[in-house]
Amino acid sequence: MMRILILGSGGRECTFAWKLVQELPKENIFITPGNAGTSAHGTNLNLSILDFEAIGSFCLENKIDTLLPGGEDSLVAGICNYFESNENLKHIYVFGPDKTGALLEGSKEFAKKFMAKYGIPTAKYESFNKGQEKEAKAFLKTMNPPYVIKADGLAAGKGVVIPETLEEAENWVDEMLVNEQFGQASSKIVIEEFLKGIEVSFFAITDGKDYLLMPEAKDYKRIGEKDTGPNTGGMGAVSPVSFVDETFKNKVIEQVVKPTMTGLQKEPFGYRGFVFFGLINVDGNPFVIEYNCRMGDPETEVVLPRLKNSLSEIINKSKNGTFSQIVSQLDERYCTTVMLVAGGYPGDYSKGKTIEIGTVNDSIVFHAGTKLNEGKLQSNGGRVIAVSSFGDSMQEALDKSYSSIKKISFEGMYYRTDIGKDLF
Ligand code: AMP
Ligand code: GLY
Repeated sequence: MMRILILGSGGRECTFAWKLVQELPKENIFITPGNAGTSAHGTNLNLSILDFEAIGSFCLENKIDTLLPGGEDSLVAGICNYFESNENLKHIYVFGPDKTGALLEGSKEFAKKFMAKYGIPTAKYESFNKGQEKEAKAFLKTMNPPYVIKADGLAAGKGVVIPETLEEAENWVDEMLVNEQFGQASSKIVIEEFLKGIEVSFFAITDGKDYLLMPEAKDYKRIGEKDTGPNTGGMGAVSPVSFVDETFKNKVIEQVVKPTMTGLQKEPFGYRGFVFFGLINVDGNPFVIEYNCRMGDPETEVVLPRLKNSLSEIINKSKNGTFSQIVSQLDERYCTTVMLVAGGYPGDYSKGKTIEIGTVNDSIVFHAGTKLNEGKLQSNGGRVIAVSSFGDSMQEALDKSYSSIKKISFEGMYYRTDIGKDLF
């Protein structure tokens, strides 16, 4: 039976552990570093997700056969390549793309070139390196406002700016290329056409050949009601998404998912694991804004509960070449999640606040930034807890999440009260 180590400590990883413990004995599930919630579903470790040597040793000593990286960092750093190229470790299956495959998320330019090559709809763009500020500014003059400027590399979700005026846009070119505002990540930039529409995310799981489409979701990125204020990691999510009808879904499958899978198969890199399609619906047509090589957070907290298939079986089948046998089984109900965050987040906030949770029957409480301190539950991050619920309607699911939240409290707790409202 599978013995698995999950890498990460957020609501996404808690959801993975919650799902897997329904399929595997708790003794077979490990999470590093995990949080207070994951310790209920498996064993937390204190290994850094980037310390591949320590992770490898732990796997050997504890007969771990599968690694499930939650976020992009270890994938972009090449955890797959590390395990595959090490004689002692190559029997351990890393469920994620190799270092080059992970560039679909790790480099905006790489993703853009991939999309161009496989005819996948996306915004028109040009990329520029340090030293090409003049060319970048000349390109800006050919574009209409607002301007979309992206740091090429990973910038913790902060690497995209959308200035309204040409002057601001030109300043950003210098900020990124000359002043390296986002470090190495912005020594190259992508400037692209602004797309107007509503965003939605699709997710697939693949063995590099076949794929399984998971439910779509919409997340709520900004801290304030009506999507105002600074960006966060995500304040809530809903699935399914009302404007995703059969016609739109078919366009996504035919124009985006299938050509992406063709590309993943043809390219010389190794790709398996999750593909996250960040899309924008422009007048009924899907355009790809970004790829991620992992699941979303908090999207996982609404997508995974709706997946009835066994996750461990999916992972096993992707490993032994029988992935095409999987028939996806989805829960037709709505699932919604509302994120409870620390006061001050995404700016400065404090940790170590005592969390009280009463009996919650109607929702699933996924821990994100939490820890146990001498047996007491405390906050340990900006996004603290995600409260997910099912309902036959989105309203019913939301009502359950919001009424369960009343049973949870910690000093400074904040959440958005308008998750899903724009979709009614
Ligand atoms: P990304 O990190 O690429 O997902 O971009 C962050 C956010 O910027 C997205 O979620 C969109 O809201 C916005 N964005 C990115 N690219 C575009 C674009 N071409 N047109 C409009 N909005 C965009
Ligand atoms: N919620 C967006 C992300 O995980 O990237």
